[in-house]
Amino acid sequence: MKKKIIIGNWKNYLNYQESIHLSKKISKINISNNVRVMVSPNHLYLNEINQIFNETNIEVIAQNVTSSESKSDTGGITVSNLKNLNIKRSIVAHSESRIREKNPQKVLEEIIPIAYQFVLCFEEIDQIPFNLLTNKFEIILAYEPVWAIGTGETASIDHINEIHKKVKLKLEDFSLEIPILYGGSVNPSNSRDILESDYVDGVLVGGASTKIDHFEGILNSI
Ligand code: 13P
Repeated sequence: MKKKIIIGNWKNYLNYQESIHLSKKISKINISNNVRVMVSPNHLYLNEINQIFNETNIEVIAQNVTSSESKSDTGGITVSNLKNLNIKRSIVAHSESRIREKNPQKVLEEIIPIAYQFVLCFEEIDQIPFNLLTNKFEIILAYEPVWAIGTGETASIDHINEIHKKVKLKLEDFSLEIPILYGGSVNPSNSRDILESDYVDGVLVGGASTKIDHFEGILNSI
């Protein structure tokens, strides 16, 4: 069986001490061979948290990237600086960062040619630029319906399967092999049902990933 991908997106829920504390706790979890785990802390703490997970299989990823190379980009996050900290992947186009960014596709046009790995979030299938995607390096997609983010209202399995199936068919048309995660109010009570679906390659977890017992529950649910 292919490993399911579980990503904890800590957003901006945690302060410095809480982020370090949670990282140390997660680094001690015995993770099953069925899952591949990534955590995405606040950018300010990426370097230190990456050191904490250094000896583990857990990958530390950024929450956003705004341009590829060093340039006049006040307040932005560049691929060159992320690579400098040995951060090999970033979430892109999360609905919470789309609010600030006018054209999230622009950053894809910058980072795809330099093969920087990313997790591309979408709410509608037509937000996925299938023609830009490639198998040349690892790309992950994440279906995150806005109404399910942080609301406690998880999408039904039927709804998730329907959307993921449509995206998988489109990916096939473009001969792309890209996993699709689901995100939106995933918690330890619903994660097993979601992760058991053949159409779901993993989950992108927000709030529940910032609480050690909840995150551990999700990791142990398959
Ligand atoms: P919640 O799990 O808090 O709903 O957040 C989902 C999300 O936005 C993950 O990126």
